[in-house]
Amino acid sequence: NLIYILNGPNLNLLGKREPAIYGSDTLADVEAMCAEVGHGFGLAVQLLQSNYEGQLVDWIHEAREDAGGIIINPGAYTHTSVAILDALNAFEGPVLEVHISNVHKRESFRHHSYVSLRADGVIAGFGVEGYALAMRRMGSLLG
Ligand code: DQA
Repeated sequence: NLIYILNGPNLNLLGKREPAIYGSDTLADVEAMCAEVGHGFGLAVQLLQSNYEGQLVDWIHEAREDAGGIIINPGAYTHTSVAILDALNAFEGPVLEVHISNVHKRESFRHHSYVSLRADGVIAGFGVEGYALAMRRMGSLLG
């Protein structure tokens, strides 16, 4: 079983961007950590990142054929994208939403998430460890 780990805009800069908020680990580190957790549950991972909303929508459509579950950090599209919500509503497996920072401790425009209307679980403020915790949960749900 394959898990897609989708990442939205600016997360390509993870490790370099605002390290006081997002830490020093990179997306490559996140992928390695998630692959290791997945291995214990017989789950493979594919980590993808795009700065483009439509690309994220296309990958969610591909997940309908390819993936058993989706872990998604939509970045700023979390707070704006009905299109990503609609795409996730067309996906049947588990969806887990991850935010590296605690969005509820930040500006009020980060307090609302369209994606949370679909997500089966939400993790925020655990740093990049949140991705590994989401993988453990995928293991409970699908492993
Ligand atoms: C984020 C939080 C969002 O508000 C922000 O726009 C991001 C990253 C997080 O992982 O904490 O790009 O999703």
